[in-house]
Amino acid sequence: MLDASGLVYNHNKTLGMLESNKEDNPVAAQILGDDPSETLEACHIVLQRAKPVFIDLNFACPVRKVIKKKAGAYLLRYPKKAGKIVKKLASSLPLPVTVKIRSAYYDKDPKAGLLLAKTAQENGASAVFIHGRTAQQGYSGRVNYEAIKSIKKALKIPVIGSGDILGPQLAQEMLDNTGCDGVIVARGAFGNPWIFEQTEAYLKDSIPPSPLSYETIISVAKKHLKLYRDWKNSLSQKPPAEKYYVGHLRKIAMWYSKGLPYSKRAREAISKAATYDDIVKIMDRLSQDYDIAWLKR
Ligand SMILES: Cc1cc2nc3c(=O)[nH]c(=O)nc-3n(C[C@H](O)[C@H](O)[C@H](O)COP(=O)(O)O)c2cc1C
Repeated sequence: MLDASGLVYNHNKTLGMLESNKEDNPVAAQILGDDPSETLEACHIVLQRAKPVFIDLNFACPVRKVIKKKAGAYLLRYPKKAGKIVKKLASSLPLPVTVKIRSAYYDKDPKAGLLLAKTAQENGASAVFIHGRTAQQGYSGRVNYEAIKSIKKALKIPVIGSGDILGPQLAQEMLDNTGCDGVIVARGAFGNPWIFEQTEAYLKDSIPPSPLSYETIISVAKKHLKLYRDWKNSLSQKPPAEKYYVGHLRKIAMWYSKGLPYSKRAREAISKAATYDDIVKIMDRLSQDYDIAWLKR
């Protein structure tokens, strides 16, 4: 999610987010804007520096900072204004423009998402991505399949459902319950990069995911930790002090160790770890604890 003003005013942090791995292809860029002209200018900057296959407009983000700027999910309350942004981009850019919305802004006004989705289609959007929760809900409660279903029914353009796709069966459930054309995996990928191939296998050939070995999980977790550290160190000539990103390393280790048997002690240690080396040592010990517990059985 790239802030349009951040791009237009050359903010390093926002421009840095345009970087992606060449192996990650195709990629799309998502823009957060509240003004048609500025958002278009931001898109031109993106197209000069990256090669997205489509541009997505964020009308879904409920974070307070974003709502204060009258962008993101705020525009669910002002569909005409959102429509103007879609029109400006869809009529000016040489690639498809899509929108990401939530089912509504307020719980008491459940049709706001439907109205915005229709407005987006009328103004040239090529697809709608919808998180089936209201902005007011945040992440609480279950995803609302009915809201996604009603939007799918009302539109001609593809509708892609989002919310609680935490595994292959839930992807199937989303497709069956809403009739949507595709799904977005979000939190389900935390510590679970296997979810994509597992979901593809399940949707295509009904192959249920086979359990992963402890060894595989820990070794991929360590690879993820290393890639993150190496990437952080590659951003500038002088590597940043670990204290500035160790919080994210702890998060990565917590994702992978979640739900693993015999991980209680290790997870407590991860939550207090101060360095990359400490976290890797804890991940190794996690394997040993498991092996010992297994041998003792
Ligand atoms: C850490 C995090 C970052 C996210 N960033 C974005 C974003 O940049 N743009 C966006 O449209 N949605 C973003 N989302 C929302 C997801 O796309 C998705 O709609 C939402 O998490 C619901 O799906 P889930 O229940 O499967 O996680 C983000 C979600 C999480 C948890």
